[in-house]
Amino acid sequence: MPDALEELSDWLSGAPRPPTRPLVTVSYAQSLDGSIAAPGGGTLRLSGPQSRRMTHVLRSLHDSIMVGIGTVLADDPQLTVREVEGENPRPFIVDTHLRTPVSARVLSSGKPPVIAAAESADASAQVALEEVGAEVVRVPASPDGWLQLTSLLSRLESLGVTRLMVEGGARLVTSFLNARLVDRVVITVCPCLVGGLKAVGIIDLTQFGHYPRLVNPHSACFGEDIVIWGGVESASR
Ligand SMILES: NC(=O)c1ccc[n+]([C@@H]2O[C@H](COP(=O)([O-])OP(=O)(O)OC[C@H]3O[C@@H](n4cnc5c(N)ncnc54)[C@H](OP(=O)(O)O)[C@@H]3O)[C@@H](O)[C@H]2O)c1
Repeated sequence: MPDALEELSDWLSGAPRPPTRPLVTVSYAQSLDGSIAAPGGGTLRLSGPQSRRMTHVLRSLHDSIMVGIGTVLADDPQLTVREVEGENPRPFIVDTHLRTPVSARVLSSGKPPVIAAAESADASAQVALEEVGAEVVRVPASPDGWLQLTSLLSRLESLGVTRLMVEGGARLVTSFLNARLVDRVVITVCPCLVGGLKAVGIIDLTQFGHYPRLVNPHSACFGEDIVIWGGVESASR
């Protein structure tokens, strides 16, 4: 194992979890200009082999891996640890209206996923997804119609999850940052310029008054990619 990967793994493994919810690590790969997808949201293979392997090691250090339905529909990810040895984290899909296709690869790749939906989501979609192995949980929605992140984290806590990796996409990551519910970030920066969908949307300053900022950031090269990691300064300074 290269030194940087060992350092990163030790740092993550030793991270204390917050007292009332799982530890939240946000991790994604972006281009130099901050894009995580092609213009229009199309899938983009950004990471090189070393950083991709690093991402799979990171996954293996978490109990659960969360993505938004936008990512499932765009990328059809498997969310497994197939490039390294280790246990697959349990996928957790944030899917307000149960739009996850029954053919999605995440349903047949690793551990059976949990799909969180609003109370109003179609009951027949739930039956269809449960028939192919998913566990569907209902979660309260916020006034904006999206699922409440604190309720999602409580649900994960009740499922025994202590470490959650949030892998995207942009809307989900932005929601976690805006709620200041991110403890750690690991961002892979790939040496290309895309002009596509940006990793992070507008950060709302009204409640907290400051932008999320890394404490004691570290970086290392994984092949041609630069990986930057650090803890996020707490909301209550
Ligand atoms: N480079 C990378 O590392 C990487 C990683 C992951 C994804 N991606 C890219 O990211 C893109 C997808 O990102 P995206 O922003 O369109 O979608 P997303 O963040 O994957 O999913 C967003 C959707 O999740 C649902 N949702 C429910 N509650 C939410 C909440 N509290 N906050 C945020 N979302 C909530 C909403 O679905 P409803 O609208 O149905 O309510 C929302 O539209 C894809 O193009 C994919 O390729 C890149």
